Order: sequence, then structure tokens, then C-alpha cells
Amino acid sequence: MSFATTAWSQDQPAKSPKGVAVAKKGTPKVDAKIDEIWKTCPKYSVNQPITDLLEIDSKNMATATVRLLWDDRYLYALWVVKDSELSADASDDWAQDSVELFLDQQHDKSTSYETDDAQYRVNCEGRISGQGTGYDEADIKAATKKNKKGYLVEMAIRTHAADNKSGTVMGIEFQVNDDHGSAQRDAISKWFHTEDDSWQDTSTFGTIEMK
Ligand code: BGC
Repeated sequence: MSFATTAWSQDQPAKSPKGVAVAKKGTPKVDAKIDEIWKTCPKYSVNQPITDLLEIDSKNMATATVRLLWDDRYLYALWVVKDSELSADASDDWAQDSVELFLDQQHDKSTSYETDDAQYRVNCEGRISGQGTGYDEADIKAATKKNKKGYLVEMAIRTHAADNKSGTVMGIEFQVNDDHGSAQRDAISKWFHTEDDSWQDTSTFGTIEMK
């Protein structure tokens, strides 16, 4: 599937029926401000509920758009999250208002996490956490800013290989966790695979293509 360059700069999220997200080459400043370069990137919607875990009306659940950039050593993600009620009260990191990026760097789709697989999380207060065999907190930097509609997260993830190239493909998934005021998780929205298994199984991820 190809996207006209002009369509990228419009508000409509790019369609990704096959779970393919495209990252353009570029290095943004990770400061929770939307640099001009982000405006040229396609947006992907993280707005599909995990139906059997929904505790609220899906109309009220937090959703996001994600845009992606890459350079030799980093993958960058800009999340614009719509969330009408922000909370980091839940005791589990993954139940707080937060965004999660799951990465399978070798794209070998293993059904359990191996050394190339990790889950990176940033909550609405900017607190970083994560899990998975390949997770190292030193690999992620992030900036967060709350706004009237929710919050914005900008992430930089240092990739294990120091030589990302145009044509590099990895497995990826995006998730938004929503505590709608219960101090527990009330909704999860995802980009591609609508089950709560991305944290332990990389075989159902979509893909990211560095263009
Ligand atoms: C999942 C949780 C899981 C957690 C563990 C989250 O992405 O939604 O169910 O317990 O990851 O890291």
C-alpha cells in the first residue's frame, strides 16, 4: 500500500489494514512538542478496544494516534492521546493511564519474549516502565505533556542494532491503557491485534517499516 505524501499531512489517520506502520527517517527533539518533521509522518490509530476487558462504554475509552520516525540508532514515537480523565492512581503500571510500545526487533515473531523483544511504557505523568527479556530502562527516553484533551508522549527507543537502514522491518504493536476513575484499568485500546497478549507473545504484532 502506498500513501500520497499530501495525505500524510492531513488529519485523517493512515489506514493500515494489514498492520503495517511506516516510519520516516528523521531525528526529532524529544521534548513533548510536535516538531515540524512529525507533521509529515503518517498517523496510525490506536482505537480498537479489547472487548472482553472493557469496563466502560468504548465511546469513553482513551485512544491515540501514533507517528513514527527512525534514525541509525533510535526509533521515535509521538503519541497524541485522547483521554478525558487522567489518572496514575492504579498500583500496577499497566493499569494507569499510559501508552505501551511493543517491539520485536528481529521480527522473528516468537511466542514468548526473547532478548530482542521488549515492552516500553510511559504513563500520563511521564513515568517510564517496561517489561520483557529485552527490556532495559536505559534504552528509553520520553517526554510527556498533559493538555485539554488528554496528553502527549514522545518516546525515543534505542534499538539494539546500531545500523537501522531504510528497509529495516521489525514487529510492533501499540496500546493505550485507560483508568477512567476507578484506580484500575477500565479499557485497553490497541492498534492491530485486539487481545491482551502483546506483553507475552510477539507473533501477533504488526510490522514497522523504516522507509
Ligand atoms: C498488559 C497487562 C500485563 C502487562 C504486563 C500490559 O500490556 O495489558 O495485562 O499484565 O502488560 O507487562
